[in-house]
Amino acid sequence: MYLKRLSLFNYKNIAEANFDFDTKINCFVGKNGIGKTNILDAIYHLSYGKSYFNPLAVQNIRHGEEFFVVDGVFEKENRDEQIVCSLKKGQKKILKRNNKPYERFSDHIGFIPLVIISPSDQDLIIEGSETRRKFIDSVISQLDNTYLQQLIQYQKIIAQRNALLKYFAANQTFESDTLSIYNEQLHDLGTSIFKKRKQFLEDFIPIFNKHHQSITNSAETVQIVYESQLSEKPLLQLFDENLAKDRVLQYTSVGIHKDDLSFEIGTFPIKKFGSQGQQKSFLIALKLAQFEFIKKQSGVLPILLFDDIFDKLDETRVSKIVEMVNDETFGQLFISDTHPERTENIVKSTHQSYKLFNL
Ligand SMILES: Nc1ncnc2c1ncn2[C@@H]1O[C@H](COP(=O)(O)OP(=O)(O)O)[C@@H](O)[C@H]1O
Ligand SMILES: [Mg+2]
Repeated sequence: MYLKRLSLFNYKNIAEANFDFDTKINCFVGKNGIGKTNILDAIYHLSYGKSYFNPLAVQNIRHGEEFFVVDGVFEKENRDEQIVCSLKKGQKKILKRNNKPYERFSDHIGFIPLVIISPSDQDLIIEGSETRRKFIDSVISQLDNTYLQQLIQYQKIIAQRNALLKYFAANQTFESDTLSIYNEQLHDLGTSIFKKRKQFLEDFIPIFNKHHQSITNSAETVQIVYESQLSEKPLLQLFDENLAKDRVLQYTSVGIHKDDLSFEIGTFPIKKFGSQGQQKSFLIALKLAQFEFIKKQSGVLPILLFDDIFDKLDETRVSKIVEMVNDETFGQLFISDTHPERTENIVKSTHQSYKLFNL
Protein backbone atom coordinates (compact mmCIF):
# COMPACT_ATOMS: atom_id res chain seq x y z
CA MET A 1 0.00 0.00 0.00
CA TYR A 2 1.24 3.48 -0.76
CA LEU A 3 0.09 7.05 -1.19
CA LYS A 4 0.25 8.05 -4.85
CA ARG A 5 -1.04 11.61 -4.81
CA LEU A 6 -1.93 14.24 -2.26
CA SER A 7 -3.76 17.53 -2.67
CA LEU A 8 -4.08 20.03 0.11
CA PHE A 9 -6.32 23.02 0.28
CA ASN A 10 -6.19 25.50 3.18
CA TYR A 11 -4.67 22.92 5.47
CA LYS A 12 -2.87 24.82 8.24
CA ASN A 13 -0.33 27.16 6.60
CA ILE A 14 -0.68 25.54 3.17
CA ALA A 15 -3.00 27.38 0.80
CA GLU A 16 -2.75 24.84 -1.98
CA ALA A 17 -0.32 22.06 -2.77
CA ASN A 18 -0.25 18.97 -4.96
CA PHE A 19 2.20 16.09 -4.79
CA ASP A 20 2.91 12.96 -6.80
CA PHE A 21 4.82 10.58 -4.58
CA ASP A 22 7.45 7.94 -4.98
CA THR A 23 6.34 4.48 -3.91
CA LYS A 24 9.29 4.23 -1.56
CA ILE A 25 10.88 7.36 -0.06
CA ASN A 26 9.65 10.95 -0.08
CA CYS A 27 11.45 13.81 1.61
CA PHE A 28 10.11 17.23 2.45
CA VAL A 29 12.92 19.69 2.99
CA GLY A 30 12.85 23.36 3.76
CA LYS A 31 13.41 25.83 6.52
CA ASN A 32 11.66 25.87 9.88
CA GLY A 33 7.99 26.81 9.77
CA ILE A 34 7.59 26.20 6.03
CA GLY A 35 4.99 23.47 6.56
CA LYS A 36 6.86 20.14 6.44
CA THR A 37 5.25 18.78 9.57
CA ASN A 38 1.89 20.07 8.39
CA ILE A 39 2.14 17.95 5.24
CA LEU A 40 2.95 14.87 7.29
CA ASP A 41 0.01 15.73 9.52
CA ALA A 42 -2.26 15.94 6.48
CA ILE A 43 -1.17 12.41 5.53
CA TYR A 44 -1.84 11.35 9.12
CA HIS A 45 -5.32 12.86 8.76
CA LEU A 46 -6.12 10.48 5.90
CA SER A 47 -5.33 7.50 8.09
CA TYR A 48 -6.78 8.57 11.44
CA GLY A 49 -9.37 11.16 10.40
CA LYS A 50 -7.74 13.70 12.69
CA SER A 51 -4.55 15.65 13.28
CA TYR A 52 -1.69 14.10 15.23
CA PHE A 53 -0.68 17.48 16.58
CA ASN A 54 -3.76 19.62 17.01
CA PRO A 55 -6.82 18.04 18.63
CA LEU A 56 -8.94 21.10 17.82
CA ALA A 57 -10.07 20.28 14.30
CA VAL A 58 -11.10 23.80 13.39
CA GLN A 59 -7.58 25.09 14.10
CA ASN A 60 -6.35 23.01 11.19
CA ILE A 61 -8.17 25.33 8.80
CA ARG A 62 -5.82 27.93 7.38
CA HIS A 63 -6.15 31.23 9.25
CA GLY A 64 -8.76 33.46 7.64
CA GLU A 65 -10.28 30.65 5.55
CA GLU A 66 -13.55 28.77 5.89
CA PHE A 67 -12.60 25.16 5.18
CA PHE A 68 -9.82 22.71 4.47
CA VAL A 69 -9.60 19.71 2.16
CA VAL A 70 -7.06 16.90 2.32
CA ASP A 71 -7.38 14.61 -0.68
CA GLY A 72 -5.24 11.54 -1.17
CA VAL A 73 -5.16 8.64 -3.61
CA PHE A 74 -3.66 5.43 -2.26
CA GLU A 75 -2.92 2.23 -4.06
CA LYS A 76 -3.99 -0.69 -1.94
CA GLU A 77 -4.19 -4.27 -3.20
CA ASN A 78 -3.87 -3.00 -6.77
CA ARG A 79 -6.83 -0.69 -6.44
CA ASP A 80 -7.02 3.08 -6.23
CA GLU A 81 -8.55 4.26 -2.99
CA GLN A 82 -9.38 7.93 -2.72
CA ILE A 83 -9.65 9.26 0.82
CA VAL A 84 -10.86 12.80 1.33
CA CYS A 85 -11.07 14.56 4.65
CA SER A 86 -12.64 18.00 4.79
CA LEU A 87 -13.89 20.43 7.35
CA LYS A 88 -15.94 23.57 7.01
CA LYS A 89 -16.21 25.95 9.94
CA GLY A 90 -19.33 25.32 11.99
CA GLN A 91 -19.95 21.95 10.36
CA LYS A 92 -19.01 18.36 11.06
CA LYS A 93 -15.84 16.97 9.59
CA ILE A 94 -16.40 14.75 6.58
CA LEU A 95 -14.36 11.68 5.73
CA LYS A 96 -14.96 9.94 2.43
CA ARG A 97 -13.66 6.81 0.81
CA ASN A 98 -14.15 6.78 -2.96
CA ASN A 99 -16.72 9.56 -2.65
CA LYS A 100 -18.77 7.71 -0.06
CA PRO A 101 -18.90 9.50 3.31
CA TYR A 102 -18.28 7.39 6.39
CA GLU A 103 -21.11 7.42 8.90
CA ARG A 104 -18.67 6.47 11.63
CA PHE A 105 -15.06 7.61 11.34
CA SER A 106 -14.09 4.65 13.48
CA ASP A 107 -14.97 2.37 10.55
CA HIS A 108 -12.07 3.90 8.64
CA ILE A 109 -9.48 3.30 11.36
CA GLY A 110 -7.07 0.60 10.27
CA PHE A 111 -7.84 0.89 6.56
CA ILE A 112 -4.71 2.94 5.94
CA PRO A 113 -2.20 1.69 8.53
CA LEU A 114 0.25 4.42 9.43
CA VAL A 115 2.88 5.11 12.07
CA ILE A 116 4.35 8.51 12.84
CA ILE A 117 7.62 9.21 14.64
CA SER A 118 7.84 12.82 15.72
CA PRO A 119 9.52 14.99 18.34
CA SER A 120 6.15 15.42 20.03
CA ASP A 121 6.17 11.69 20.88
CA GLN A 122 8.01 12.99 23.93
CA ASP A 123 4.53 13.58 25.36
CA LEU A 124 4.23 9.82 25.80
CA ILE A 125 6.90 10.03 28.47
CA ILE A 126 6.27 13.39 30.06
CA GLU A 127 2.49 13.75 29.96
CA GLY A 128 -0.17 12.00 32.04
CA SER A 129 -1.51 8.49 31.64
CA GLU A 130 -4.09 9.49 29.02
CA THR A 131 -1.46 9.89 26.29
CA ARG A 132 -0.16 6.38 26.96
CA ARG A 133 -3.63 4.87 26.98
CA LYS A 134 -4.29 6.62 23.68
CA PHE A 135 -1.14 5.09 22.29
CA ILE A 136 -2.18 1.54 23.23
CA ASP A 137 -5.71 2.19 22.04
CA SER A 138 -4.63 3.55 18.69
CA VAL A 139 -2.43 0.52 18.00
CA ILE A 140 -5.08 -2.01 18.99
CA SER A 141 -7.83 -0.08 17.21
CA GLN A 142 -5.96 -0.20 13.93
CA LEU A 143 -6.28 -3.97 14.05
CA ASP A 144 -9.45 -4.62 16.00
CA ASN A 145 -12.49 -2.52 15.23
CA THR A 146 -14.57 -4.27 17.93
CA TYR A 147 -12.07 -3.01 20.48
CA LEU A 148 -12.57 0.54 19.28
CA GLN A 149 -16.36 0.20 19.43
CA GLN A 150 -16.12 -1.22 22.96
CA LEU A 151 -13.90 1.64 24.00
CA ILE A 152 -16.28 4.26 22.62
CA GLN A 153 -19.17 2.54 24.36
CA TYR A 154 -17.25 2.32 27.64
CA GLN A 155 -16.47 6.05 27.53
CA LYS A 156 -20.11 6.87 26.85
CA ILE A 157 -21.30 4.86 29.85
CA ILE A 158 -18.60 6.31 32.10
CA ALA A 159 -19.90 9.77 31.19
CA GLN A 160 -23.44 8.65 32.03
CA ARG A 161 -22.30 7.13 35.31
CA ASN A 162 -20.50 10.33 36.22
CA ALA A 163 -23.58 12.37 35.38
CA LEU A 164 -25.61 10.10 37.63
CA LEU A 165 -23.17 10.54 40.50
CA LYS A 166 -23.46 14.31 40.05
CA TYR A 167 -27.23 14.06 40.02
CA PHE A 168 -27.17 12.05 43.27
CA ALA A 169 -25.03 14.70 44.93
CA ALA A 170 -27.03 17.65 43.62
CA ASN A 171 -30.33 16.13 44.70
CA GLN A 172 -29.06 14.48 47.84
CA THR A 173 -30.42 11.19 46.69
CA PHE A 174 -29.16 7.75 45.83
CA GLU A 175 -30.55 4.91 43.81
CA SER A 176 -28.52 1.76 43.55
CA ASP A 177 -30.52 0.10 40.74
CA THR A 178 -29.60 2.58 38.01
CA LEU A 179 -26.03 2.63 39.15
CA SER A 180 -25.90 -1.16 39.07
CA ILE A 181 -26.98 -1.22 35.44
CA TYR A 182 -24.09 1.05 34.51
CA ASN A 183 -21.71 -0.94 36.69
CA GLU A 184 -22.59 -4.19 34.99
CA GLN A 185 -22.27 -2.75 31.50
CA LEU A 186 -18.95 -1.19 32.40
CA HIS A 187 -17.77 -4.41 33.98
CA ASP A 188 -18.37 -6.39 30.79
CA LEU A 189 -16.84 -3.79 28.48
CA GLY A 190 -13.99 -2.94 30.85
CA THR A 191 -13.03 -6.57 31.39
CA SER A 192 -12.92 -7.21 27.67
CA ILE A 193 -10.83 -4.08 27.06
CA PHE A 194 -8.51 -5.02 29.91
CA LYS A 195 -7.95 -8.51 28.49
CA LYS A 196 -7.24 -7.12 25.04
CA ARG A 197 -4.77 -4.58 26.38
CA LYS A 198 -3.06 -7.27 28.42
CA GLN A 199 -2.82 -9.64 25.48
CA PHE A 200 -1.62 -6.83 23.24
CA LEU A 201 1.17 -5.90 25.63
CA GLU A 202 2.26 -9.51 26.00
CA ASP A 203 2.80 -9.57 22.24
CA PHE A 204 4.06 -6.04 21.87
CA ILE A 205 6.64 -5.76 24.65
CA PRO A 206 9.03 -8.43 23.25
CA ILE A 207 8.98 -6.63 19.87
CA PHE A 208 9.68 -3.36 21.63
CA ASN A 209 12.58 -4.93 23.57
CA LYS A 210 14.07 -6.30 20.36
CA HIS A 211 14.00 -2.89 18.66
CA HIS A 212 15.33 -1.16 21.71
CA GLN A 213 18.25 -3.55 21.99
CA SER A 214 18.97 -3.10 18.33
CA ILE A 215 18.97 0.72 18.46
CA THR A 216 21.07 0.93 21.63
CA ASN A 217 23.24 -2.16 21.04
CA SER A 218 21.77 -3.57 24.26
CA ALA A 219 23.52 -0.90 26.30
CA GLU A 220 20.47 -0.09 28.44
CA THR A 221 17.79 -2.13 30.19
CA VAL A 222 14.34 -0.68 29.84
CA GLN A 223 10.94 -1.98 30.73
CA ILE A 224 7.31 -1.39 29.92
CA VAL A 225 4.92 -2.41 32.69
CA TYR A 226 1.15 -2.48 32.28
CA GLU A 227 -0.60 -1.02 35.31
CA SER A 228 -4.30 -1.68 35.71
CA GLN A 229 -6.58 -1.81 38.72
CA LEU A 230 -8.26 -4.71 36.97
CA SER A 231 -5.22 -6.92 37.37
CA GLU A 232 -5.97 -6.87 41.11
CA LYS A 233 -9.72 -7.24 41.26
CA PRO A 234 -12.80 -7.56 39.06
CA LEU A 235 -14.28 -4.21 38.07
CA LEU A 236 -17.60 -4.85 39.83
CA GLN A 237 -15.76 -5.36 43.10
CA LEU A 238 -13.75 -2.19 42.52
CA PHE A 239 -16.97 -0.25 41.96
CA ASP A 240 -18.41 -1.58 45.22
CA GLU A 241 -15.32 -0.83 47.24
CA ASN A 242 -15.04 2.70 45.87
CA LEU A 243 -18.69 3.66 45.96
CA ALA A 244 -18.39 6.06 48.91
CA LYS A 245 -15.38 7.73 47.34
CA ASP A 246 -17.03 8.01 43.90
CA ARG A 247 -20.08 9.62 45.45
CA VAL A 248 -17.93 12.24 47.12
CA LEU A 249 -15.88 12.84 43.97
CA GLN A 250 -18.98 12.65 41.74
CA TYR A 251 -16.75 10.84 39.37
CA THR A 252 -15.80 7.22 38.57
CA SER A 253 -12.39 6.72 40.12
CA VAL A 254 -11.80 3.10 39.09
CA GLY A 255 -11.78 1.32 35.77
CA ILE A 256 -9.75 0.83 32.62
CA HIS A 257 -9.84 4.61 32.06
CA LYS A 258 -7.23 4.70 34.85
CA ASP A 259 -4.84 2.22 33.21
CA ASP A 260 -1.27 3.30 32.58
CA LEU A 261 2.02 2.09 31.21
CA SER A 262 5.10 2.51 33.33
CA PHE A 263 8.18 3.26 31.23
CA GLU A 264 11.30 2.35 33.16
CA ILE A 265 15.04 2.46 32.77
CA GLY A 266 16.70 0.07 35.17
CA THR A 267 13.75 -0.01 37.54
CA PHE A 268 13.23 3.74 37.65
CA PRO A 269 10.82 5.94 35.70
CA ILE A 270 12.48 6.99 32.46
CA LYS A 271 10.70 10.35 32.75
CA LYS A 272 12.87 11.26 35.73
CA PHE A 273 15.96 9.14 35.28
CA GLY A 274 16.43 8.82 31.54
CA SER A 275 18.68 11.19 29.62
CA GLN A 276 17.24 12.91 26.56
CA GLY A 277 19.02 10.45 24.30
CA GLN A 278 17.76 7.48 26.30
CA GLN A 279 14.22 8.82 26.14
CA LYS A 280 14.53 9.30 22.40
CA SER A 281 15.77 5.76 21.82
CA PHE A 282 12.93 4.48 23.95
CA LEU A 283 10.34 6.36 21.90
CA ILE A 284 11.77 5.33 18.55
CA ALA A 285 11.81 1.69 19.67
CA LEU A 286 8.21 2.10 20.77
CA LYS A 287 7.15 3.41 17.38
CA LEU A 288 9.16 0.89 15.38
CA ALA A 289 7.54 -1.82 17.49
CA GLN A 290 4.17 -0.33 16.63
CA PHE A 291 5.13 -0.54 12.97
CA GLU A 292 6.21 -4.15 13.19
CA PHE A 293 3.23 -5.15 15.27
CA ILE A 294 0.73 -3.68 12.82
CA LYS A 295 2.60 -5.21 9.90
CA LYS A 296 2.59 -8.65 11.52
CA GLN A 297 -1.04 -8.56 12.48
CA SER A 298 -2.50 -6.97 9.37
CA GLY A 299 -0.09 -8.17 6.69
CA VAL A 300 0.02 -4.60 5.36
CA LEU A 301 3.16 -2.47 5.44
CA PRO A 302 2.12 0.71 7.24
CA ILE A 303 3.10 4.07 5.84
CA LEU A 304 5.82 5.56 8.01
CA LEU A 305 6.19 9.27 8.76
CA PHE A 306 9.56 10.41 10.08
CA ASP A 307 9.18 13.96 11.34
CA ASP A 308 12.56 15.61 11.97
CA ILE A 309 13.93 12.25 12.99
CA PHE A 310 17.52 12.72 11.75
CA ASP A 311 17.80 15.92 13.70
CA LYS A 312 17.75 14.12 16.99
CA LEU A 313 19.94 11.16 16.20
CA ASP A 314 23.64 10.56 16.03
CA GLU A 315 25.18 8.99 12.92
CA THR A 316 25.15 5.42 14.23
CA ARG A 317 21.46 5.56 14.89
CA VAL A 318 20.75 7.21 11.56
CA SER A 319 22.63 4.44 9.76
CA LYS A 320 20.73 1.85 11.80
CA ILE A 321 17.50 3.27 10.48
CA VAL A 322 18.85 3.47 6.94
CA GLU A 323 19.79 -0.19 7.23
CA MET A 324 16.25 -1.01 8.22
CA VAL A 325 14.77 0.96 5.35
CA ASN A 326 17.01 -0.98 2.99
CA ASP A 327 15.91 -4.22 4.41
CA GLU A 328 12.59 -4.29 2.52
CA THR A 329 10.83 -4.48 5.87
CA PHE A 330 9.62 -0.97 5.27
CA GLY A 331 7.08 0.27 2.80
CA GLN A 332 6.55 3.88 1.87
CA LEU A 333 8.37 6.45 3.89
CA PHE A 334 7.86 10.21 4.33
CA ILE A 335 10.69 12.19 5.85
CA SER A 336 10.88 15.82 6.89
CA ASP A 337 14.18 17.56 7.44
CA THR A 338 15.67 21.04 7.47
CA HIS A 339 18.93 20.01 5.73
CA PRO A 340 18.52 19.12 2.05
CA GLU A 341 22.06 17.74 1.65
CA ARG A 342 21.95 15.63 4.78
CA THR A 343 18.63 14.14 3.73
CA GLU A 344 19.75 13.48 0.19
CA ASN A 345 22.97 11.80 1.37
CA ILE A 346 21.12 9.57 3.79
CA VAL A 347 18.46 8.67 1.30
CA LYS A 348 20.93 8.04 -1.54
CA SER A 349 22.80 5.56 0.59
CA THR A 350 19.69 3.38 0.76
CA HIS A 351 19.75 2.83 -3.03
CA GLN A 352 15.98 2.98 -2.95
CA SER A 353 13.91 5.15 -5.25
CA TYR A 354 13.12 8.52 -3.78
CA LYS A 355 11.73 11.98 -4.39
CA LEU A 356 12.84 15.18 -2.76
CA PHE A 357 10.37 18.02 -2.36
CA ASN A 358 12.03 21.36 -1.76
CA LEU A 359 9.44 23.53 -0.06
N1 LIG B 1 -4.44 26.96 10.95
C1 LIG B 1 -3.28 27.52 10.52
N2 LIG B 1 -3.29 28.51 9.62
C2 LIG B 1 -2.14 29.07 9.19
N3 LIG B 1 -0.92 28.70 9.60
C3 LIG B 1 -0.85 27.69 10.49
C4 LIG B 1 -2.01 27.05 11.00
N4 LIG B 1 -1.62 26.08 11.86
C5 LIG B 1 -0.28 26.15 11.89
N5 LIG B 1 0.19 27.11 11.06
C6 LIG B 1 1.57 27.52 10.83
O1 LIG B 1 2.31 26.47 10.26
C7 LIG B 1 3.68 26.73 10.54
C8 LIG B 1 4.39 25.51 11.03
O2 LIG B 1 4.47 24.62 10.02
P1 LIG B 1 5.26 23.26 10.29
O3 LIG B 1 4.71 22.27 9.33
O4 LIG B 1 5.28 22.89 11.71
O5 LIG B 1 6.72 23.72 9.86
P2 LIG B 1 8.02 22.84 9.67
O6 LIG B 1 8.37 22.98 8.22
O7 LIG B 1 9.03 23.49 10.55
O8 LIG B 1 7.72 21.45 10.05
C9 LIG B 1 3.75 27.74 11.64
O9 LIG B 1 4.20 28.94 11.12
C10 LIG B 1 2.31 27.83 12.11
O10 LIG B 1 1.99 29.09 12.58
MG1 LIG C 1 8.46 20.35 11.63
